Amino acid sequence: MSKPSRPGIYGTPPPSLAPPLSNPAQFSPLMPGAEALEMQGEATLPQMVMLAPSGTIERRYAIALALRALVPGAALTALAPNDKGGARLAGELAAFGCTVASASRRHHRICTAPRPRTITGLDEALAEGAPRLIATLGLWSQPGIFSWDRIDTGSALLLEQLPSLSGSGADFGCGIGVLARAALASPGVRRLTLIDIDRRAIDAARRNLDGPRTEFLWADLRGSAAMLSGLDFILMNPPFHDGGAEDKALGQMFIRRAAEALRAGGTCWLTANRHLPYEGAMKPLFSQMSLRLEAKGYKVYEAVK
Ligand SMILES: C[S@@+](CC[C@H](N)C(=O)[O-])C[C@H]1O[C@@H](n2cnc3c(N)ncnc32)[C@H](O)[C@@H]1O
Repeated sequence: MSKPSRPGIYGTPPPSLAPPLSNPAQFSPLMPGAEALEMQGEATLPQMVMLAPSGTIERRYAIALALRALVPGAALTALAPNDKGGARLAGELAAFGCTVASASRRHHRICTAPRPRTITGLDEALAEGAPRLIATLGLWSQPGIFSWDRIDTGSALLLEQLPSLSGSGADFGCGIGVLARAALASPGVRRLTLIDIDRRAIDAARRNLDGPRTEFLWADLRGSAAMLSGLDFILMNPPFHDGGAEDKALGQMFIRRAAEALRAGGTCWLTANRHLPYEGAMKPLFSQMSLRLEAKGYKVYEAVK
């Protein structure tokens, strides 16, 4: 368990809406290198400002962790856009036994509450948001991770097309490891690197697929994939949302990173919503590109560098 002292911040609350913090410790699982709120000692933090997640279970879990970590009486400021959980924040905090002051600004609800001495419903919220085995998938997962309790349609279509693989590869934006598990079913796969920006996804993927052939990286692929080169294959269902807004540039960046990391002749398997403009990004970077499947609103590509 970590020590008290610094105030905590969760995500990137707009500075114009949140109180300024001096040298805060970051706790968002979506920011590689951040501290884990789960590991923070009870009643140790002097203050917390949280851009609350939009998913209800995930938000209640993060608020419960934040309240547990705060010293009784220390202030929690939780804010969210009105249409992404903000409208429910005050009620959710009150249900934890908080006395809430709430304000509305620029389509956000901003709630401040001192940490109550007793947090009502703490254990239930922590249990509801905790990692668990999803029996239907045979995989560990957690609310908040992409498609956390079912296989995404695009991923399922890519799985249908995937041939036997060999050599060294990577799963870019691995989530809980749905695509990686299929790759590892090929005995010819010597090494597989799973990368995701979400610590919870990496933790779940490690629990699901840890072994002598796998390595796990909690990293932002917008930074660099320079640690990877000469790969035989890459699998990806690229993200197309960044903080809730559609972001085609993110998927295009994944494609550039894949081209950098593959050897000449290496293959990128990609599945994406068919309206996303990825063909144009792939064409100049790959020598061959085949549309393997178009179904249910998705396209699955095999692109050879
Ligand atoms: C569409 S999901 C696919 C997940 C998984 N491969 C599957 O098929 O279920 C995209 C994944 O990319 C991750 N991601 C988003 N932005 C990222 C970034 N900048 N760097 C690395 N991973 C990222 C997300 O956390 C998410 O797990």
